[in-house]
Amino acid sequence: MRTLDVGCGINKLPGSIGIDRNAASRADVICDLDHFPYPFRDSSFNALQAVHVVEHLRDVMKTMEEFHRLVRPGGEVFIVTPHYTDFSSFCDPTHRWHLNSFSLRYFGEDNAGYGYYSNVRFEEISVHVKLLALWRWLGFEFLVNAFPRYRRFWEHYLCYVVRGKVIEWRLRAIKK
Ligand SMILES: C[S@@+](CC[C@H](N)C(=O)[O-])C[C@H]1O[C@@H](n2cnc3c(N)ncnc32)[C@H](O)[C@@H]1O
Repeated sequence: MRTLDVGCGINKLPGSIGIDRNAASRADVICDLDHFPYPFRDSSFNALQAVHVVEHLRDVMKTMEEFHRLVRPGGEVFIVTPHYTDFSSFCDPTHRWHLNSFSLRYFGEDNAGYGYYSNVRFEEISVHVKLLALWRWLGFEFLVNAFPRYRRFWEHYLCYVVRGKVIEWRLRAIKK
């Protein structure tokens, strides 16, 4: 199982190959993630994770396309990013992007009708939203994750009050 931990920082996934620009990180390969391609061959990883990284990078669409290139057909990609209503999303001035739980739909079925954004495809294995503790205790986190239609309702009508914390996507690379 060859796994790439993109932007691994000091918390590199055990057994993975870490890549980061920071020499003080646990990276095995130092490089700038805003410059493509990353120094690996096509389809050279079984899996890839980017935990609290994409919000720092210049181009989310190109970054996702690079992740797609790097994993084998059917390879899994795990992305974690703050929900845009969380304190951390706007507090950190190095965050360029503030995403919601539908932000990666442009890589899904029919590219959400936006094939001109990207023609790269991922199948969504799961999307999980963590909410602030109070709302989790009151059962909102269960509802948001158990029912996709409720998650849509929450994103449209409730999320500025019932605030999110973190979004986690598990995706599978579709390659012809
Ligand atoms: C918030 S930290 C997350 C670290 C780790 N994934 C974790 O969960 O603890 C973001 C990481 O992305 C790296 N990073 C941000 N922008 C980068 C870039 N353009 N090129 C390479 N690494 C970058 C930082 O050096 C940092 O290690």
